[in-house]
This record gives sequence, structure tokens and C-alpha cells, in this order.
Amino acid sequence: MPPLESSATTEESATKPLWIGTSWKMNKLGSDARAWANTLTENLTDDVLSQVQPFVIPSFTAISPVAQVLDGRSPVLVGAQNAHWEDSGAWTGEISVPQVKDAGASIVEIGHSERRTHFGETIETTRRKVEATIRCGMRPLLCIGEPADTKAAGQSAEYILEQAHGALDGLDESDLGKVLIAYEPMWAIGDAGRPPRTEELVESFAALGDEYDHRVEALLYGGSVTVDNAAQLLSIDHVGGLFVGRTAWDVHGYLELLRIAEAHRRS
Ligand code: PGA
Repeated sequence: MPPLESSATTEESATKPLWIGTSWKMNKLGSDARAWANTLTENLTDDVLSQVQPFVIPSFTAISPVAQVLDGRSPVLVGAQNAHWEDSGAWTGEISVPQVKDAGASIVEIGHSERRTHFGETIETTRRKVEATIRCGMRPLLCIGEPADTKAAGQSAEYILEQAHGALDGLDESDLGKVLIAYEPMWAIGDAGRPPRTEELVESFAALGDEYDHRVEALLYGGSVTVDNAAQLLSIDHVGGLFVGRTAWDVHGYLELLRIAEAHRRS
């Protein structure tokens, strides 16, 4: 696992890679997962890897198979979609940060809106999970995003800043520098969502950027990313990467996004 680097200074950020990752949500069996990872490693180029940090977040059951395929063959990072805040104990059905680390993960996704909506994730539990992830020497990927009615009321920025502050305020600056934040508006996510227009995201990224750009590892955008809108999304101020669902579940879609990011980074 590559060592975590602390947050970059302004000059360093010019040379930072774009973070392009995918969560598979509750999809793919072990054989599909291995095939995806094999095709990825066979098609990754040094040109892409010089500009982009790829990462993949499978279901828990596929973390180990994917990590085994990638291990030693590529710098693609592997993550978990969730983890408990305690290291071990009587928490039937839960999986801890040390356990996902043991399986080969180095990133823990925390607070995706599907977990907040369906599984009772709160700002307080996201805070505990961020802390547990840092404690284990791993990188938290904190997801934040407002529902459609909050957007309609013009309160997107306040809403997402409250989520970010609630999860991150206790961290010292060097730990904050390990964090990835993915802004994923709920109205843009999944089959029920719609692709955003770039101008709908500018204000939220300006608010996040004011507070967190250069203090966290990177600010990512997620929600209905496609090969058609990826370059535009990457050109929004403060966007340092993309966090992708459906488009990247087919490895060829993911490879295309990596190429788009590489080209954008060089332009
Ligand atoms: P999507 O999912 O790209 O399929 O909209 C994004 C997400 O939920 O992170």
C-alpha cells in the first residue's frame, strides 16, 4: 500500500493527480470483479498513471479478489464502501476498518447518501468512521450531498458544509490532508438522478473550495458522470477528480474516463 501523503501546498497541487474512482455499490460477483481488474491492469498506460490516481471500491466480498489481482501489478488503490467505527467487538453483521485493511483496502468510503437514506448513517457516525479510518492509517473518502428540496430552497452549500464540518472538524490539519471529499448531490445520483449542468455545481464547489481546497487531498464530483460530461465536470473550479457509479461498472467505460482525465490534466 503506498504511504499516505499529507495535504499539498499550493505549488504542489499543480502537480497533483486527478483522482478517478468507482464504487460498484452492490454489484459484481468475484469472477466479474477479477475480470474487471484484470482488464484494467492490462490496459492502463504510464501516460494515464502519470496524471491520474485510479481507485476502485468493490463490495466487501470482492475487495480481496480485486486487491489480489491489482497487488504488485498496478498503483490502482482499492477501497471499502463502509466500515464500522470500532476496531472489533459484538457488532454482528458489521465489518471494521482493520478488517477491510486486512482484505487489501486503503480507502474507506463514508457517508454515501444511500447509506444516510437507507441505513441510518448520521453526521455523528460519519465523524466516528472518519476518525477510525485515520486511526488505522487509511484514507477516508467522505461523501456529502444535498437532497433536491434543499437545492430548490437555495441551501445546497450550507447543507454540504454542515455535513463536512460535522465529520471533519475534529481532525488536525495533517490528518485532514489525507481526506478525499466527494460532493455527490442526491438529485444527480443513480438511475433516479439526472446529470447536472456544470453551472449548478459551481456555487457548491466554490463553498467547498474556500474551506477545504489545499487542506484535503482532493475534492471530487460524483453523480451521473458519463464519458460525455466528464471533461466539463473536471473543468469546474476546485474539482480534483470524479467518483463514478454506472459509467465505470463496465471497465471500458472506466478506462475511457481515465483517458479523458489524462487529456484534461494535460490540456
Ligand atoms: P452514478 O453513481 O455515477 O451511477 O450516478 C454515483 C454515486 O452514487 O457515487
